[in-house]
Amino acid sequence: MCFANKGFKVTGIDIDSEKVKLINMGKSPFREPGLDELLMKALGKRLLHCTTNQEHALEKSGVSFITVGTPSLPDGSIDLDFVGAASQSIGEALKKMNKYHVVVVKSTVTPGTTEKVVKPIVEERSGKHCGSEFGLCVNPEFLKEGSAIHDMLNPDRIVIGEYDKRSGESLEKFYKDFYGESMPPIIRTNLTNSELIKYANNAFLATKISFINTIANICERLRGADVKVVAKSIGLDNRVSPFFLNAGLGYGGSCFPKDTKALIAFSKSLGYMPELVEAVTKVNEAQPFKAVDLAEKLIGNLKNKRIAILGLSFKPNTDDLRNAPSLKIVNFLLKKEAKIIAYDPKAMDNAKKIFGVKIEYASSAIKCIKGADCCIIITEWDVFRKLKPGDFIKHMKKPCIIDGRRIYNTAAFLDDTKFMAIGL
Ligand code: UGA
Repeated sequence: MCFANKGFKVTGIDIDSEKVKLINMGKSPFREPGLDELLMKALGKRLLHCTTNQEHALEKSGVSFITVGTPSLPDGSIDLDFVGAASQSIGEALKKMNKYHVVVVKSTVTPGTTEKVVKPIVEERSGKHCGSEFGLCVNPEFLKEGSAIHDMLNPDRIVIGEYDKRSGESLEKFYKDFYGESMPPIIRTNLTNSELIKYANNAFLATKISFINTIANICERLRGADVKVVAKSIGLDNRVSPFFLNAGLGYGGSCFPKDTKALIAFSKSLGYMPELVEAVTKVNEAQPFKAVDLAEKLIGNLKNKRIAILGLSFKPNTDDLRNAPSLKIVNFLLKKEAKIIAYDPKAMDNAKKIFGVKIEYASSAIKCIKGADCCIIITEWDVFRKLKPGDFIKHMKKPCIIDGRRIYNTAAFLDDTKFMAIGL
């Protein structure tokens, strides 16, 4: 969508004809702030079209990006079926073309995949040689859900892993045309490094989160300690930086949990046990349960207690529930026979598909907390930040609040309500 809105002619290819139809009608198949507007603009200018016919699409283009999913297998390693299938389609389309074309792997793949899986498949299906007849690059993506468009338009850097110089130069030129004056720093390297950069980047961010959650767990055992104050202070050290130091109920989503596991499985396959990354995932797996521990500390036995859940998505500004901490928390509360009522500004439809009639659903934050024995903030949506102690006092049976994302003014809540928070 961003390419098209900068004037590039873009063809989206998918084997899912329903998805293709939806996008061509101007409907985005998932929620992302600003995406629908960009989609309408791109369609209006006829710069975007989606199809299931890859041959026709490739014929007219100079670069193809492979952006398929690489889901986890039971042992944590990644499933390359979709990458393989996309490589086959591209190879078959390339066979009939007689101009130079660059194939770019944007999907997250473990080191060696592009060289050992993508290249041979494309070469075999196309009958062409990588390097002389088509180009090959790895170009990891660093955008975040919920701010995808902003991140895509303002990246900290572009990483290009190149099979050969010509491939890298072609992709660099493409990005120079795309970003113009605001071209970000560019790193050009080999395929292996750029594949590893993506995993190292996500594993490092996950490490920051599990680190601060570890400090939070220490704070909770120390009279007077507050992880927010500690995080703010260490974040002011330029070597640490303030980002990704928000303690909470753990990281979720389709990336950190999957990528840390894939890095562990990959590293083990090399004969090296990545103990640090294993510890990061271990801390994260336990973190959501802290919400239930705190609730028990605050109100005792949870059986038949009415628990209001504010926030279900794995982070604000998305309806995505993949690996969301809320899933573990709600299931554990159900095991404890608590009665659950939940509200999320965007993820209600997805939540209903998962929990069905096992929980109740509210249509607003206030309706959710009405008559509840305890309220747990799981996702830091802006609408929840606006709630004041008075709102909880007025609507809840007793104002017992667990701030799982540290969104509230501690002093004000401690004065007027029964309040517990991660890292406090
Ligand atoms: C993450 C990376 O941030 C992107 O750079 C990367 O491109 C993307 O994965 C990917 O590999 O595709 P994303 O999963 O969309 O992006 O979301 P994040 O904003 O990174 O949040 C991930 C999780 O970490 C959320 O559950 C969030 O609540 C949690 N988090 C984040 C914290 O618990 N504390 C923080 O300080 C920051």
